[in-house]
Amino acid sequence: MRALAPGKIILSGEHAVVYGKPALVLAVDRYAEATISSNAESRVHFELIDFDENSSLTLQALRELKGRLLRNYQMFLNGELGIRDVLKKPFHLFEFLFITLIDGLQLKLDRGLDILLHSDIPVGSGMGSSAATLVSVLKGLAAFFKLNFQADDFFAYGLEAEKLQHGKPSGVDPYISVHGGFVRFQNKQAQKLVMPRVPFTIVNTGSPQATTGECVSFVSEHFATSPIWDDFEAVTNKMQYALLAGDVLDVQRCVRENHKLLTTIGVVPHTVQNFIRDIEKAGGAAKIAGAGSVRGERGGMVTVYADAIPTDIVNRYGYELLRVKGEPNGARVV
Ligand code: PMV
Repeated sequence: MRALAPGKIILSGEHAVVYGKPALVLAVDRYAEATISSNAESRVHFELIDFDENSSLTLQALRELKGRLLRNYQMFLNGELGIRDVLKKPFHLFEFLFITLIDGLQLKLDRGLDILLHSDIPVGSGMGSSAATLVSVLKGLAAFFKLNFQADDFFAYGLEAEKLQHGKPSGVDPYISVHGGFVRFQNKQAQKLVMPRVPFTIVNTGSPQATTGECVSFVSEHFATSPIWDDFEAVTNKMQYALLAGDVLDVQRCVRENHKLLTTIGVVPHTVQNFIRDIEKAGGAAKIAGAGSVRGERGGMVTVYADAIPTDIVNRYGYELLRVKGEPNGARVV
């Protein structure tokens, strides 16, 4: 059984979406892939091909792990543990998801399983790689066990697991990976939009030093009750109309305004700010896409709106251009 789930790019509203404001989110043609097969042992074997990491546990060991992770998460909620310390290993996230699904639905496992995970979505860079991987595992397991799962079920299980990694996520990442397309996402609900026609380029400024969970915690400490989220909402609304109208200049104005707000909340590293300033000087506009970073100089993905791809500026900063397209479809068995 093989399942694919797409990554995503947030065009507007990252961070604000955690505070109930809208975000515009586009699924893209980069995928996480889960391959599931049975084995003769009584263990569940996870292999993260891209990390060269693997783990093999019995159901009993998986249950104990789940208990530990839930205790860690509770400590995070009590302010006793940083979100980075809730999961000790990357595959714990998928093991938690697996045992939560098996026990939640009281599924019988009469043999072991091999679950191979691979992704071409850059990790920890604002493209929703972990949510897409979670959703690909869910999609594969649902097909393997012939579960009558609806989109809402995939979303709910994906979100539950994502909390261990991102703390208090908005749910935008698992939602878009399940559904695909272009949506306006707010309060765990989404409105489907026409795919945007205004061209943009994605630039990878490198994997951030801080995780999404850390960025969300930092922003919450400093801005949870700030009126700045109304400004984010206003710019997202303007951006939505500009994108749908195909008004490039208006989109660029919104992106510049959005970048200023993201800089104010402290998630745009200085070097990335300089890069965006150079893009703006050359007549374009750019902003981080995703959580950004509250430490170090790398900010993950940046979306650039410019007449011509600014390769000279990108090269000067040693960044990488990514070719991605919108993906109209969500996770699926292939
Ligand atoms: O996982 P990232 O880097 O795309 O960030 C997700 C977007 C945030 O708004 C920063 C967090 C969230 O849960 O919505």
